[in-house]
Amino acid sequence: MASFFTRKLLDWNRGMNDRQMPWKGEKDPYRIWISEIILQQTRVEQGWAYYERFIASFPDIQALATAPDEEIFKHWEGLGYYSRCRNLIFTARQIHVERKGMFPKTYPEIAALKGIGPYTAAAIASFAFGLPYAVVDGNVIRVISRVFGIDAPADQPASRKLFTEKAQMLLDVRHPAEYNQAIMDFGATICKPQSPRCSVCPFQSDCQAYAFGRIAELPVKSKKIQKKKRFLHYLILEYNGQLFIRKRTARDIWQQLFEFHLIEADRLLETRELLDLPEVRAIVHPHSFELIMVSGARRQLLSHQELQGGFFHLKLNHPPSLPTGYQPVSRERLRDAAFPRFILSYLEENAYFQSAEVQSFNEKGEVS
Ligand code: ADE
Repeated sequence: MASFFTRKLLDWNRGMNDRQMPWKGEKDPYRIWISEIILQQTRVEQGWAYYERFIASFPDIQALATAPDEEIFKHWEGLGYYSRCRNLIFTARQIHVERKGMFPKTYPEIAALKGIGPYTAAAIASFAFGLPYAVVDGNVIRVISRVFGIDAPADQPASRKLFTEKAQMLLDVRHPAEYNQAIMDFGATICKPQSPRCSVCPFQSDCQAYAFGRIAELPVKSKKIQKKKRFLHYLILEYNGQLFIRKRTARDIWQQLFEFHLIEADRLLETRELLDLPEVRAIVHPHSFELIMVSGARRQLLSHQELQGGFFHLKLNHPPSLPTGYQPVSRERLRDAAFPRFILSYLEENAYFQSAEVQSFNEKGEVS
């Protein structure tokens, strides 16, 4: 016998849920996988266009597995959490080589793939293969903790287990795909983190959080993430119309993405201070460059880091003495490289992807 929760959720889904998304109802495990990896750390509104471009360029595992890394990273540019992209590439090639391109069809095999945790495995297993595995993500935890008044801290492994067991009990095993999509849509559109729409909620008369005025309090988080502050100063070095970039190889959040020469410090540096640093003087000869642009301080918040920094564009009279790994690129070729969002947004806002002629034309304010 299905619980009141399961019945009411499916009734809501069939009568009231008009949420449309390109991956909804999808049965192809490859497409579901791509959508779920994008949605792991990205909002639906932002992920939507990325998903459509990704599928248009790489319509199946074969296409993804045989594409060059750089082309795939270019499709991920700006989405963040680039380990997702590295894992996608690894897993696509593994399935292509070891399984002749056939996506595994059982939960344990799906969950064993790199980059796929219990949430994504349950999503693929239920959406693609109709298997009875309940998804547990932030939406699901919020709905369950509020309706049933569960105040176990959601970010601790022991409570995660509790929410998973509860979610699994509530799952409609005859309609796992519909149920899983419904609870996520319900969490995203009705039982929202802020300003939930309790007046139209079918669980209003059942909801423990509503009854006891605990909506803002649930779900409980035990610890607030302390964001690490980083101060990034990028030198955009231009010599002979070419800009110097390199691919990051360090095993960090931007591995495999491109960057300009980076000076990281323990605080924001003034322009003069930066240019007087011995490590900068070793790269560009004093008096042999023109500082043509300073961005001013910029900021970006990530889930675990706060980035602050700026860009310093130097036009050089001599080639810079950079460590190995840097390559000169023209502005025309700059757009072929994938950059972290912190850099990309600066380049876009300052028209770096237009050719030099177009830019100087615009700067004169002439009308074509
Ligand atoms: N978030 C993660 N997966 C989702 C899905 N399939 N639909 C809506 N939001 C999601």
